[in-house]
Amino acid sequence: MAAKQRKVVVSVVGARPQFVKLAPLAPVLGAAFRHRIIHSGQHYDYELSQAFFGQLDIPAPDINLKVGSGSHGRQTGQILERCEKALVSLKPDMVLVYGDTNTTVAGALAAAKLRIPVGHVEAGLRSFRTTMPEEINRKMTDHISALLFYPTRVARDNLIREGITRGLVPSGDLMYEMLEACRPSLADHTAVLQHFGLKKGKYILITMHRAENADDPDRLRAFLDIAESIAEPMLFLAHPRTIGNLRRQKLLKRISAIPNLILGRPQPYFETLALVSQARVVMTDSGGIQKEACFLGRPCLILRTETEWVETVRSGANTLVDLSHTKIRRALRQPQKRRPQIKATVAGRPPSHLITAAIERYLRRR
Ligand code: UD1
Repeated sequence: MAAKQRKVVVSVVGARPQFVKLAPLAPVLGAAFRHRIIHSGQHYDYELSQAFFGQLDIPAPDINLKVGSGSHGRQTGQILERCEKALVSLKPDMVLVYGDTNTTVAGALAAAKLRIPVGHVEAGLRSFRTTMPEEINRKMTDHISALLFYPTRVARDNLIREGITRGLVPSGDLMYEMLEACRPSLADHTAVLQHFGLKKGKYILITMHRAENADDPDRLRAFLDIAESIAEPMLFLAHPRTIGNLRRQKLLKRISAIPNLILGRPQPYFETLALVSQARVVMTDSGGIQKEACFLGRPCLILRTETEWVETVRSGANTLVDLSHTKIRRALRQPQKRRPQIKATVAGRPPSHLITAAIERYLRRR
């Protein structure tokens, strides 16, 4: 009887980092609401999608919109159209979207147009680079959300500066919660180092998939110049977007010829964290890996000119190096002492509980 009256909350996810955020939240939402999951199908490769659902025990999606890849307009438009239909059938009291992908903005727009309140997990992050697809997605999403779960003070200040003052909820960071839950068992996953023939503390872990890096032939070449100049072992876990562009630019042979660089496929969550935790240095343009390196106390060079996670740089944990030879060389020479580890919770409370409690309060008032 009570179960019948439970409110319906729908999570719309579709890309790798969203699965990591959903993992600790899904069981807590599931205990409080009828929680349903819509997968947009933006990521469909096993390594980018199913591997995360399996490893992190995320309930299987109730609906898969199967949009696949495409231009931004096509992908976003198809998610919008198909998500609307799915939401009409699920009749949620609230829709949750995560982060800054095309799935995020399309899911938020579909819900807002149906007058279903939207909760945005990871609200308020800004790069102030207006051409970045993620910046467009997060700004649009924030401005149509009823609840804005912001992870940092900087994020809150960004929202207030844009005139968003209602529905702000300090939530901490779900990725931190997930990492803390897994930290004790990371040692069980270090077989991945042997798999790649790497030694603890003796390799650089690299990922690079952002459109501004991977889609720009000049920046891809600049990255290759840098990789060729580094003498120590490197593991480059390449996103299919990056591999596709390397192939199109006829650079795949060149990167494969770097003797001390292993070109690997994206790894599941535990293996990625194990590789981050044992790396001498991490080089990445991923938002998630930037934070995870920082949480794990590993030095991280950010292959961008700016970051939304400014606290990680201000604390001295991470360094913005762009694709600058000089900056990267200098940073790699620095002594690799342990870095400050940021804690991303509010008053020590798990983000999943803070988010769920705020949704409960909001829905009770309606
Ligand atoms: C998306 C997000 C990015 C996030 C990243 C996490 C947007 C605008 N970007 O980038 O913010 O950091 O996810 O990984 O939403 N592809 C495959 N298999 C897949 C998915 C993609 O091969 O399962 C290839 C396709 O060639 C596709 C390209 O990767 O065209 C880009 O995929 P897309 O989902 O558009 O963006 P991501 O680069 O994954």
